[in-house]
Amino acid sequence: MWCRDMWTLGVKFRCVVLVGAVLALSGGPCEAEDILVPLGSDALLPCSTSVSRRAVAHAAAIHWRKNSNGRVRTVCRRERSGLEFRHVSLAGRTQCPQSDFRSGDYSLRICATRAEDGGEYICTVQEGQRKTVKTVFLRVIQVLFSLPTPIEGSRMQMTCSVNPKPQGATVSWKLNGDPQPRYSSTVTFDYLKQTHSGNWTCVVGYKQAKGEATESMEVKGITIPQNDGLMVYGAPGSSVTLPCVFSEGLRSPAVAWEKVSTATKASLPLPLSFNKNTSVFSSGALSPASSLGPWDLSARVESVEVKDEGTYRCSGELQGNKGLRTRVKRDIQLVVAQVFSTLSRNGSRTLTCHLSNASEVTAYEWLRVTYDVNGTQTVTPAGKSKVMTIPKVTETDIGEWVCCFSGKQGILGNATYHLHMISGQEGVERETGKVNRVAMVLGLGFLFLVLLLFVLQVYRNRRRRKMTMPYPAMESIVHSNFNERERRQIEKQKTKSKGVVDV
Ligand SMILES: *[C@@H]1O[C@H](CO)[C@@H](O)[C@H](O)[C@H]1NC(C)=O
Ligand SMILES: *[C@@H]1O[C@H](CO)[C@@H](O)[C@H](O)[C@H]1NC(C)=O
Ligand SMILES: *[C@@H]1O[C@H](CO)[C@@H](O)[C@H](O)[C@H]1NC(C)=O
Ligand SMILES: *[C@@H]1O[C@H](CO)[C@@H](O)[C@H](O)[C@H]1NC(C)=O
Ligand SMILES: *[C@@H]1O[C@H](CO)[C@@H](O)[C@H](O)[C@H]1NC(C)=O
Ligand SMILES: *[C@@H]1O[C@H](CO)[C@@H](O)[C@H](O)[C@H]1NC(C)=O
Repeated sequence: MWCRDMWTLGVKFRCVVLVGAVLALSGGPCEAEDILVPLGSDALLPCSTSVSRRAVAHAAAIHWRKNSNGRVRTVCRRERSGLEFRHVSLAGRTQCPQSDFRSGDYSLRICATRAEDGGEYICTVQEGQRKTVKTVFLRVIQVLFSLPTPIEGSRMQMTCSVNPKPQGATVSWKLNGDPQPRYSSTVTFDYLKQTHSGNWTCVVGYKQAKGEATESMEVKGITIPQNDGLMVYGAPGSSVTLPCVFSEGLRSPAVAWEKVSTATKASLPLPLSFNKNTSVFSSGALSPASSLGPWDLSARVESVEVKDEGTYRCSGELQGNKGLRTRVKRDIQLVVAQVFSTLSRNGSRTLTCHLSNASEVTAYEWLRVTYDVNGTQTVTPAGKSKVMTIPKVTETDIGEWVCCFSGKQGILGNATYHLHMISGQEGVERETGKVNRVAMVLGLGFLFLVLLLFVLQVYRNRRRRKMTMPYPAMESIVHSNFNERERRQIEKQKTKSKGVVDV
């Protein structure tokens, strides 16, 4: 009988019919097909025969059954008469059969698949005298997290669950579409970080079938910046923002800003111009009622001073799993950038780009900023090193010199130096010259005075010698004593004057 069918249907369909016939005779299932679907999606369990004759298809009896651990239950059934039955738990979620069966397609569609829908399904089609049996394994993939509210710093497990679990399946992971090669079907995060947030996709391969499921994970805590160690750059007098944005949905953030010493870990006073985001603090946005949106608790240093460099800490307490409170924090480093200017003896001026921490800087660039009569700014590159030397400062060099520094991600910041002529080479040189001349005149005058005194003394001595001739011995004693004292005095005065001259 199956032979006649085979001939009438043509060579093309021989195989299917043959399988169907064999199954009809043996009663056992043919080779099963695996379907891998993510939880919540629609599953299409294929079952088709190759009958294209409307009459036969119309009169087909279809029976879909599910084998749950040896207990076989009807999922849906359509009798030749057109009468339909559906399983209660699946009712409303099945289309049985799903498409028009003129083409011989008796596939079963299950909408919004649940984990318990996974299992072995058996499709039996009776078309006239022909019976076709097909087995389909529906495997439901699901990404499971061990914590309902993942919070920064927590320990959490992520599992790729497949129901029913196939033996020897391959499991791999993607985060936001990027492959994560090191992970197996169960991933343990010892310390949750913001960088773990995103869409986690578990990719399962089994025999020829492939399927994947994606679940989004949002780690609660501080979303901006994502990690400790962010560096913000500011020149003295400029204003900088220290970002700190908490994720939404947190109940009790006791938020604090402090400056911490990296050496002693002690708390340091905040800068004078430190400005917490008062718009948030004062508007009552921290009350539990408005806990839905993210909280921007960024602070600002309105006018950076050199001593403001250092580490700032933003922290808050979050209510997490089982009501436990977890403190999350971010350390942000404020780096002060400034230009040091030195004038060397040969008259060249050296500008040095100095940063309180240059560990992130990979390149420096000096820019000359000039303005024309209309105030239009012109920026000219002037060098590509940390230190820049202007051999001889001229009128054209007066104005703004900007040091731009950049890291791997691009430009980090800049610091400006205003070069004035008065502090320039010429002004200073004239000033120092004047000072030197005054010192010289004073010194020479003093020397002259000393010489005059000396000559006067010699003259007086001579006169005294002439007067004391009758007592030569006494004269010599007096004289030698006198001379000794005289000499010491003169010596003292000489060294004193020398010191002045040298200055
Ligand atoms: C994660 O998936 C959702 C929904 O498909 C999408 O809107 C979102 O942009 C994705 N997030 C990322 C970081 O790719
Ligand atoms: C302060 O908070 C408001 C509202 O959240 C935000 O628009 C503003 O940008 C914040 N200011 C700073 C300096 O971060
Ligand atoms: C001036 O001296 C500095 C070092 O003090 C040197 O680097 C520079 O080349 C000198 N310039 C000239 C024009 O001699
Ligand atoms: C500069 O910053 C880096 C990274 O935060 C840190 O390891 C280093 O100790 C800092 N250096 C100084 C001199 O503060
Ligand atoms: C300045 O502006 C005037 C009129 O706006 C224009 O004619 C002139 O060319 C400008 N000068 C320069 C140097 O750009
Ligand atoms: C220096 O930085 C400020 C602020 O980031 C920016 O507005 C300015 O354009 C920068 N200057 C130069 C010359 O790049």
